Amino acid sequence: MTEVRKVVAGNWKMNLGPVETTSFFRELALPDGEDGPRVAIFPPSLSLAAAVSSRDRDPRVELGVQNIHWEDAGAFTGEVSAAMAREAGATLTLMGHSERRHVFGETDEEVGRKVAAAAGHGLTPVICVGETLDQRRAGRLEGVILGQLDAALEHMPGDGALMVAYEPVWAIGTGETATPRDAADAHALLATRMEALLGERARAIPILYGGSVKPGNAAELLAAPRVDGVLVGGASLDPASFARIVEAATGG
Ligand code: PGA
Repeated sequence: MTEVRKVVAGNWKMNLGPVETTSFFRELALPDGEDGPRVAIFPPSLSLAAAVSSRDRDPRVELGVQNIHWEDAGAFTGEVSAAMAREAGATLTLMGHSERRHVFGETDEEVGRKVAAAAGHGLTPVICVGETLDQRRAGRLEGVILGQLDAALEHMPGDGALMVAYEPVWAIGTGETATPRDAADAHALLATRMEALLGERARAIPILYGGSVKPGNAAELLAAPRVDGVLVGGASLDPASFARIVEAATGG
């Protein structure tokens, strides 16, 4: 068992520009109550300013970016830095999302440098790890996800805030969801490794599950051991379905 407060996070990927972001927050009606989860949204960087001003209606919503560069500034066309993201109102950043790794070729080593930059600027990294279907079938799940975790934490300061998200690549955007048992098994591996690396404080670090989470399957996933939250892609784009997932994480 874990006493970590649940987390429901929405990864919008390259969806919802500033105008749609404002509409999203206008329509978002989160359940009231003190036993609710932490709620976070990761809009595209260009929509962050709109999210900052429109989430005023519900300041509980934390905001993050989807990626950062490890340098603070310089000749890196197309990139944004941790310092800029923080200044613009983000308090979290996704790190090493599978689309960054597999579509944009981000390496474990780069993820490690980015995590260190995020932590150095007070952005909480949400470190994403996950195996492909081929890796899973070849029995490499453990080696892959723990290798990604080790590399991501290599330069992380000992006391920096962080979260981890287990996102099996075969379950992202495919409609295939890991079973609660699959999620619990992977989360147990990650929890054990974090305790070995970080000691006691690892028990307070949330481990989220991501991959085709929807209002209809969120509650059973969140009931699995050490599934401390969910990272939601497609179903986070609609304020009503996102609110239903938050509801599923309330009171547990
Ligand atoms: P999905 O995406 O919920 O659309 O599968 C999850 C993610 O990539 O974070």
